[in-house]
Amino acid sequence: MFLRNMWYVAAFSADVQPGKCLARRFLDEPVVLFRTQAGRLSALIDRCSHRAMPLSAGHVDGEVIRCAYHGLEFSATGACERIPGQQRIPVAAHVRAYPVVERDALIWIWMGDPDKADPQAIMANPEHQDPAWSWRPYTMHVKANWQLLVDNILDLTHVAYIHANTIGGSPQTHFSADVSVQFDGEQVTLLRKMPDSVPPRTYVAAGGFKGRVDRWQQVQYRPAGGNVLRVNAGACDVGTGAYEGRRDNGFVLLNVHGVTPETATTTHYIWTICTNAARESGVPELLFDQFHETICEDERALQAQQSRISDTPDMRFVGISSDGAVNRARMLLDAMQQAEAAAQHQTVADAAVRLPA
Ligand code: FES
Ligand SMILES: [Fe+2]
Repeated sequence: MFLRNMWYVAAFSADVQPGKCLARRFLDEPVVLFRTQAGRLSALIDRCSHRAMPLSAGHVDGEVIRCAYHGLEFSATGACERIPGQQRIPVAAHVRAYPVVERDALIWIWMGDPDKADPQAIMANPEHQDPAWSWRPYTMHVKANWQLLVDNILDLTHVAYIHANTIGGSPQTHFSADVSVQFDGEQVTLLRKMPDSVPPRTYVAAGGFKGRVDRWQQVQYRPAGGNVLRVNAGACDVGTGAYEGRRDNGFVLLNVHGVTPETATTTHYIWTICTNAARESGVPELLFDQFHETICEDERALQAQQSRISDTPDMRFVGISSDGAVNRARMLLDAMQQAEAAAQHQTVADAAVRLPA
């Protein structure tokens, strides 16, 4: 299942330098991202209109991308600007352009109806621009359906098992957590409180805690905001106000997980880890390395799951009580897909009405 009318993280801004292009498949469509020499960003279908050569095999030259096969040139809007050896340029020579936006060091792409693309909907990630935060970017190609990646983050009880060697802490801490799931019609928010708990060793290294801590994990998932999950996790010394919003003296680890479908069984996992831990302490670098290992643990689990799902396509999942946020998100995504399908049928019906008898 793909949702077309929403933003997705396509890449980091730094991945597409002036004069360069990047080929990626999104929602099973081949796309070429490129940046002109003047710095204009573009996303076009990665298929030349002449004989279907991938445009990503060509070159960015000034303000156009030139097809490697017979030299047709396309502007950032997808307009065919030049056909070597002829003056007339057929209208059909243009190629599809996708709306793209750059914000918070990320490139966002809209694969659906361009008239519905509203950049205001994109979730803000201001930590990428804030000097008080250190962060590191990662791009992974995960051989699993994108919804499994969303599920993974919305059920953090897996932390005690999949991440026992990194950020896990004791299973008891996770299962006795005070969990609440909120839904406002567009966003699922999962909040887990783990008061008076023993900090995992990563947290001790980062926060310098001497004793027990009040720990939290909060996940925000608003698909229409770019299919990003923001996970804010951290800890403060016990009783210092973590649950009343006083977290400034604590340690905060923020993950921005961009989950962008490539195909039905593969996903671009474009994520960052950000922290307020003091840079000069050397802790952020340590954390980034440890957290990368943590996400690799997720990746191995997700790929193993996908492998079994592909082996047993007719079998269903069984629900358990920790699935609350996962179920809420899946219901939201199903509703969004039904709305898209209904709008699509309406468009087809309207077009049929306009056909001459
Ligand atoms: S296939 Fe691109 S110019 Fe011919
Ligand atoms: Fe995980």
